Amino acid sequence: MKESEVFLKKQKLANESFKIQSTSQGGELRNEIFGNKIFVRAVIEVSNFCRQNCCYCGMRRDNRQLNRFRLSAEMLREIIFEQLPSSVTDINLQAGEDPIAVREIILPLIQEIKRETSLGISVCLGTLDASLYAALKEAGASYYILKLETGNAEHYQKIQAPGNFHRRLETIRHLAETGWFVSSGFILGLPYQTQAHVEETIDLLSDLPLAGGSVSPFIPGDQTPYSKEPIASLDEVLKCVARLRLKNPHWIIPAVSAMNLVGSRGYTQALKAGANLVTINLTPEIQRNDYLLYKRNRFIMSETRVLKAIEEAQCEPSSESMIHFLQTKPFLPVMV
Ligand code: 5AD
Repeated sequence: MKESEVFLKKQKLANESFKIQSTSQGGELRNEIFGNKIFVRAVIEVSNFCRQNCCYCGMRRDNRQLNRFRLSAEMLREIIFEQLPSSVTDINLQAGEDPIAVREIILPLIQEIKRETSLGISVCLGTLDASLYAALKEAGASYYILKLETGNAEHYQKIQAPGNFHRRLETIRHLAETGWFVSSGFILGLPYQTQAHVEETIDLLSDLPLAGGSVSPFIPGDQTPYSKEPIASLDEVLKCVARLRLKNPHWIIPAVSAMNLVGSRGYTQALKAGANLVTINLTPEIQRNDYLLYKRNRFIMSETRVLKAIEEAQCEPSSESMIHFLQTKPFLPVMV
């Protein structure tokens, strides 16, 4: 489809996305833009040290009960160079906001991955100095994931999301201006979130210079101030996946493992609603349990599980990496 056609389609659908009929419209549009191909990435959670104190997240600095870890370079090398599942085309290195791990472990690792493989390299490492972003990019990373969590400034402050809202937006823009593909996203069902916040968030994300965006269901996190709050609704999450797709046809939209915690077959249903990226978790089990995003018993996606979900959604794994796709078929961020 030509870019001008994508633009027209996007304008048309954006107006309709509020009263979306069925979430399967999202899957249909994904198929038009990407075929039925789903990108397959692996994630490794490199460190759970974090200097932020988000109310919703178990890795917040005030959680003194958590064992903190950083994976060793040897372990990371073993996972990436010896144990990578064959369907994986992209790797995402993720951590709490831990600049030491970035400098000492992640930067040299990215240089090695770049030298030894053709994997696309994504990172999700929080807010860092501009010089560190530049070093990561120079080392070979291409895709930066920086979640907004909520698109409302007051709500952002209330939930103690990282830093402040305006800096977060500036950072997203800075990353895009300096050549990164940027992905952001939000958590649906957060305490104090209103329907108006959700609308504001979807609109704001759709206006940012993003290559991708996500919606994660809120899961009341163990050892957080929100541990007794209600969990998100899967139907609402799926509607948001479809709406993000309809408003942003060219976006990379992940199915997230927490979707399986909020309802049956949530992950597969997210693919049916228009998601086009799955993630295999390769963090070793011992450390994985301390990567406390919300609960110790997360739903862990293995290669078998993601491939099954792709098949159930009548899709196929992409043999092309997400980064190669973005570099060779660039869709300019289209503003509505
Ligand atoms: N529920 C859902 N997602 C969460 N995250 C952190 N805590 C929670 C939670 N309680 C997600 C956020 C964050 C990422 C690291 O994990 O989106 O950006």
